[in-house]
Amino acid sequence: MSDESQSFFHIPVLLKEAVEILVTKPDGIYVDGTIGGGGHSEEILRRLNKNGRLFGFDKDEEAINFCREKFKTELERGGRSRLELFNACFSLACSITKGKGRWTGFLLDLGVSSRQLDEGCRGFSYRFDASLDLRFSQVGSTAEELVNSLAENELTSIFLKFGEEPFSRKIARKIIERRKFKPIKTTFELAQIVEDVVPKPILKKSLSRIFQALRIVVNDELAVLEKGLNSALGCMENGGRIVVISYHSLEDRIVKNFFKKYSLEAFKGEEFETKLNILTKKPKRPNVEEIKSNPRSRSAKLRAAEVIRNLYKN
Ligand SMILES: C[S@@+](CC[C@H](N)C(=O)[O-])C[C@H]1O[C@@H](n2cnc3c(N)ncnc32)[C@H](O)[C@@H]1O
Repeated sequence: MSDESQSFFHIPVLLKEAVEILVTKPDGIYVDGTIGGGGHSEEILRRLNKNGRLFGFDKDEEAINFCREKFKTELERGGRSRLELFNACFSLACSITKGKGRWTGFLLDLGVSSRQLDEGCRGFSYRFDASLDLRFSQVGSTAEELVNSLAENELTSIFLKFGEEPFSRKIARKIIERRKFKPIKTTFELAQIVEDVVPKPILKKSLSRIFQALRIVVNDELAVLEKGLNSALGCMENGGRIVVISYHSLEDRIVKNFFKKYSLEAFKGEEFETKLNILTKKPKRPNVEEIKSNPRSRSAKLRAAEVIRNLYKN
């Protein structure tokens, strides 16, 4: 696949940094929980030998189909292919790969791909007129259903909690007013409401915050992240590494607290089954060149930890 079609889908963020920490053994078992356009996976495969394995997950069927095409040669090796793809949530990866061996590395590159943002028909971006869907997969309630059914207080608290939007209450009130006349069905209709309430200088930021808040709720992103990290811990081998790239403070806080909860210091010599050696005291950030060539990387934070299993216990 050419570089052009790859970057059309998504430019991988903190690529070298993430894969360098993640891949410690060329014959290990690796899980890319958010394969997207397969940028990180491609680099992981490059570092594996013929005995290494990679399981790629994505909730979005389109991403999986894209990767099926991108990694065609690898997948067509039949029983000898190092790669397996799953159109499923990463929080189910541990149970789905049960019996295939403990993981050497688990990678999460959270959020949306550029393809999802730029494609315009899934409602992820306020820049394109589309139905207010915002789901990664085709299951569960859409943003349209939430926006047209939740009470003013519920909408306010979603915008506050998951978007930290200062005009949350006013926007929620306006939504209730508007939907009395006609249901809010599209991204542009919602964006117009935000525009009617928020001062122009902060409009773009508010729009991003409102769409982010709805996306988090529609996909239950924070609970899924916590569940995914907890279940992954049970599947990791001793010395295996967890690497997470997040794009906003709510996600980053979950990763940071999860690492802290299982960190070596937290146990202070007590009995443990699994603990974590934090490898990034401070999160790694993209450098100026990366941000310049890929502005979407600017908010990325990478955290990594190494798993230590009590070999007497498990
Ligand atoms: C930032 S992109 C990943 C890009 C990828 N690392 C690359 O190099 O192309 C995030 C991807 O995660 C997927 N995703 C989000 N939440 C998910 C979940 N809970 N389970 C599986 N995939 C998820 C999205 O559909 C999207 O394709």
